[in-house]
Amino acid sequence: MKVTIIGAGNVGTSCASLLAQKDIVKEIILLDIKENFSEGKGLDISQMLPIIKSNTEVIGVTNDYSKSNNSEIIIITCGVTRKPGMSRDDLIKTNAEIIHIVTKKSIFFSPKAKFIIVSNPLDVMAYVSYMTAKIDSYRIIGMAGILDTARYRFFLSKKLNISPIDIQSLLLGGHGDTMVPLYRYTSVSGIPIKEFLSEEENDVIIEKTKKGGEEIVNLLGTSAWMAPSASVIEIVEVILKDSKRIFPCSAFLSGEYGIKNIYLGVPVILGKNGIERIIELQLNQKEKNLLKISANHVKSMIEKLKI
Ligand code: LAC
Repeated sequence: MKVTIIGAGNVGTSCASLLAQKDIVKEIILLDIKENFSEGKGLDISQMLPIIKSNTEVIGVTNDYSKSNNSEIIIITCGVTRKPGMSRDDLIKTNAEIIHIVTKKSIFFSPKAKFIIVSNPLDVMAYVSYMTAKIDSYRIIGMAGILDTARYRFFLSKKLNISPIDIQSLLLGGHGDTMVPLYRYTSVSGIPIKEFLSEEENDVIIEKTKKGGEEIVNLLGTSAWMAPSASVIEIVEVILKDSKRIFPCSAFLSGEYGIKNIYLGVPVILGKNGIERIIELQLNQKEKNLLKISANHVKSMIEKLKI
């Protein structure tokens, strides 16, 4: 089993490190355009192997896509990241070009791969990758909802003084300010969240979640990588183990939720084929309106690219 990670920046390197620690793949290819960079990162991670008790081989390569051949999964993390004061949408043109090129090269060497897209603006980059790869959309998955729900669950756990592990939740919509957290679909070990806090109190947590990425950009001067890469590896593990778990992911919509021809965050069942089913929830009017705003925002960004 082989997984290729494109981009040996913070997210790519953390993905390689977390995946190596799980010892569930034979080989990880870490690819970057910067000369010697991924080779160095690959060696550093490889030297953890005896300590972390893993047999995963981690190989860094400079821009040689032939080394990624026949990968089961390709994780695209490359592109420019946000600096303080920038929104994810400000990255659109530069990153669209990068995603287009790396998808083209990757699909050539791994025609059967599933793709996990991490680069921002996430929903648009997943769409660019899909348009480039020209493969079934269920093989291209955008990672955002797992990260956004993780942030929401963490902030809720602090507010409630309850373990974040026991908080389940679901978010819809784009990765960013227009994400649509679902109060009705949030629970603590099966107990509806309304038993713990009011919708108004929850709205405060939602606002904090929406700004969760930005808060880190402002603190660090660049975007987050630990929680994003943990979210990616959750998807990798589910695909490799074919465990049919349900997560919010950015998926290509063909009429689900009344939305067509864009990638947007929805609950999906993940398995060995990638996105095996999109789950359509019966939304109330308020949730429908918020999802529409989110979809329109993603649509307007795609139109800006004129692809
Ligand atoms: C974030 C970036 C990865 O939300 O989009 O931190």
